[in-house]
Amino acid sequence: MIPKKIEAALNDQLNFELYSAYIYLSMSAHLRSQGMNGFANWMQIQAQEETVHGMGMYSFIIDRGGKVVLKAIAQPKSEWKTVLAAFENVLAHEEIVTSRINNIAALAESEKDFATRNFMQWYIGEQVEEEANANEIINELKMSADSKQALLMLDREKAMRTFVFPIIPGGMKAPGAAAP
Ligand code: FEO
Repeated sequence: MIPKKIEAALNDQLNFELYSAYIYLSMSAHLRSQGMNGFANWMQIQAQEETVHGMGMYSFIIDRGGKVVLKAIAQPKSEWKTVLAAFENVLAHEEIVTSRINNIAALAESEKDFATRNFMQWYIGEQVEEEANANEIINELKMSADSKQALLMLDREKAMRTFVFPIIPGGMKAPGAAAP
C-alpha cells in the first residue's frame, strides 16, 4: 500500500506534469500564430511527452493501491516575446520540475518507500535530458541571433522532431503494447 504522503506528492506531480503539457501546448499555439511551425511542432511533441509523464504517475498510484485525484490545471501564459524567451521559459520550468522530482525521491527515501524511490529514478534521468535539450536549443537560438535565415533553418530542423512514446518502468504501457 502506498503511504498517504507519497500518494499526495505523486498526485501533485501528476497535476504538475499535465500543467507542463499545458504550458508547452500553449507555447506551441503561440509559435504557430507566429509562423514558427517547426518550433511549434517541437513544443507540441513536448506536450505529448509530458502527458505520458503524468500518466506514468497515474498508473503507478493505482498499481500501488492508491487513489488518483485530479485537480484543476493552472492557466498557462499565452504569449512570449521571442522564440528564445519561450525556450528560456522551458528551461526555467524544467528546473522547477527537477527540484520537485528530487523532493519526491527524497521523501520516498525518508518514508522507506523503496518502490516509489525506484520508480522516480526514471524521472531523475529524464530531467537531465529535459534540461540538456532546452539548453541546447537556447544556445542554438543565441548563436542565430540577428539572423532570420539561421532562425528559419532551426525552425525547419525542429519540424523534424517526431513523437516517441516514453517507456517508463512501472508507468503506463505504450498503447497497443503486449501485457507483461
Ligand atoms: Fe515531465 Fe518536462 O518533465
